[in-house]
Amino acid sequence: SQSIFAALLTAACVGAFSTTPAPSTSALLSSTSSSSTQLCEAKDHEHAASPVYDAISTNTAFSSYQTRHAESISNPSAFWAKEAHKRLSFFTPPPKSHPTIHGSLEKGDVKFFPGAKLNVCYNAIDRHALARNGKGGNDVAMIWEGDEPTDTKSFTYNEMLEKVSQIANALKNQGVKKGDVVTIYMPMIPELPMTMLACARIGAVHSVVFAGFSADALGARIHASQSQFVVTADIGLRGTKKIPLKDIVNDSLTKFDNENLVDKVMVYERFYDDSNEDEETEDSEAAPYDMKPKDIRMNPLVNKMKPYCVPEVMDAEDELFILYTSGSTGLPKGLVHTTGGYALYAAFTTQTTFNLEKGDIFACVADCGWITGHTYVVYGALLNGGTTFVFESTPMYPDAGRYWDMIQRHKINVFYTAPTAIRSLMRYGDSIPKKYDLSSLKVLGSVGEPINPEAWRWYYENIGNSKCTVVDTYWQTETGGHIVTNIPGVTPMKPGSCTLPMYGIDTVVLDAQTGEVVEGNDVEGVLAIRQPWPGMARTCLGDHKRYMATYLTQYPGYYFTGDTVYRDSDGFIFVTGRCDDVLNVSGHRIGTAEVESALVGHPLVAQAAVVGKPHPIKGQSISAFVMLVEGAEESEDLIKEMKMEVRSGVGPFASPDQIVVSPSLPMTRSGKIMRRVLRKIVAGEADSLGDVSTLADPSIVDVLIEKAAP
Ligand code: WT7
Repeated sequence: SQSIFAALLTAACVGAFSTTPAPSTSALLSSTSSSSTQLCEAKDHEHAASPVYDAISTNTAFSSYQTRHAESISNPSAFWAKEAHKRLSFFTPPPKSHPTIHGSLEKGDVKFFPGAKLNVCYNAIDRHALARNGKGGNDVAMIWEGDEPTDTKSFTYNEMLEKVSQIANALKNQGVKKGDVVTIYMPMIPELPMTMLACARIGAVHSVVFAGFSADALGARIHASQSQFVVTADIGLRGTKKIPLKDIVNDSLTKFDNENLVDKVMVYERFYDDSNEDEETEDSEAAPYDMKPKDIRMNPLVNKMKPYCVPEVMDAEDELFILYTSGSTGLPKGLVHTTGGYALYAAFTTQTTFNLEKGDIFACVADCGWITGHTYVVYGALLNGGTTFVFESTPMYPDAGRYWDMIQRHKINVFYTAPTAIRSLMRYGDSIPKKYDLSSLKVLGSVGEPINPEAWRWYYENIGNSKCTVVDTYWQTETGGHIVTNIPGVTPMKPGSCTLPMYGIDTVVLDAQTGEVVEGNDVEGVLAIRQPWPGMARTCLGDHKRYMATYLTQYPGYYFTGDTVYRDSDGFIFVTGRCDDVLNVSGHRIGTAEVESALVGHPLVAQAAVVGKPHPIKGQSISAFVMLVEGAEESEDLIKEMKMEVRSGVGPFASPDQIVVSPSLPMTRSGKIMRRVLRKIVAGEADSLGDVSTLADPSIVDVLIEKAAP
């Protein structure tokens, strides 16, 4: 890696902004050797099949898991040092004599190999392009499929290097510097992953906001991160429906002080035609949207940039990105992930969990706006030199066979989706997947919520032809990558269970009240982790106190997940729910507080309480209880308006399915809403409400049952 660094420094001297032309990528490629980590060749396309559960006692691979897991826990510093040297290329490698892990969970100051220098974009692209004397540059890095099944593009590692470099140069050209926060509010077009990688290349911190969030929510995130740069697109496209992203960005700038804060709005055009480049100009006349003074037409700007940008030298603990996620109270938290540890954990888990092998086409169909998209659409496969598949549309367009059609046409080997998608596709019957050749598949993944055994079996039998391993991957925005999952060919599958901890993850079950470790099997408690791991978020942006309070001080010495679990008699973990007021709707994490604050934004709403209700497809749906101001009357229009408040305050995906207008809410005498009572009522479990004697007015319960019970 030192020699590559030297070559890059030479490139820097004649870099993108000097008048001397930058060396072409191919010149760079041929003059350097590679240090890319290569994936193993697939063994005669042997499926990475996992044993069924009852094979556990005789399975030798399983005992290798136990040994390796035990080692990774007893000497984590050595374990992660070895993995880091194996999987990443450094400008300055971590010194061998130092401990890899600094700080502790107690103090909340965890660092992984601080002082080591690397660039994540270089690791995701350049070194694979340089591999095999530059031949690696012809490997396919990314396959993209647009809204229309016929709209596909693919990019080799060389092409990625050029395009990402051009975007990086465009960002610099617009004033983005190392350490600046760049808010990305984009549809799933190739430029979305490319812009994330371009930020990483120049040391800017990306803050991707899911394009389903409203202007209010986007504006709040721009403000909270004090982001001076926004990258967006004129429109998004989903099942032919156009989403006016640029208009939403315009709106978001009217919130807080964003008009003054934001310097530049860089806008890609969904239907930009590169072949008309000569006629295209950067002036506003030609733009397909109403250009404002801060707006920059990104496509023509990017196209005229030099195709090489020197990657910035970053410390392992420099910020890589911020991602906002919901908590039980207040505003969403901006979780901060750093360079070295996150990259290591993304690379490590992608290869381990999905048994990624050379030439594999890896399709994670999540949106880049969520952590799953960050780790497993953008970083994971590319850090391993694999091919990542990026999908713009929905599983229902043009019909419920879209996923299976894509698997057939692109010969996808690993397919990764959420239980909610599986459950909704199941409804269309087995005959749909039967129409397609799905034999390229070897591993199927599930993420976002517990997968019910019925959906698990359908996925395993009808999509995986009872031959593929189904991995049930449990993790969180905070953990950076999988922390509990089965491993193909190594650990057994158990439908409904995310099974066992990943290497390097020291899970414990704690008694929620006492915080004592619960030993043994067939036990319940809260899930916590006893040792730091590379992918863990280091802080909440600008609010380390909240980070400590949410994750580290509730049970001192442990990272607290917020999830309750059951460890069965074989020691396998089942996630049973959350201990806080966080909802999981179709795999989207939504805070009750955000929805409630949107509802009380309506002038006729005095108070609101939001709970999750079990839903056969979405996992949970949102039920809201509202108390109106004196004299206000319930009406259908009012219900619609309240839903609109949530759509504009949070986003359409957070719209409640049920709004119950009620004369009052079940409050304790100290004024706390007893959400537990509301949850039971909407779930149809009013016969097991438990103790309601602390309610200020217990008679409200019958009124609510009458109005809201299913
Ligand atoms: C919460 C994290 C991490 C990617 C997507 C969601 C739930 C996630 C599973 C699973 C049971 C799961 C947990 C967790 N969850 N994966 N395989 N089995 N529950 O990320 O938005 O940060 O949500 O999703 O409750 O805490 P997120």
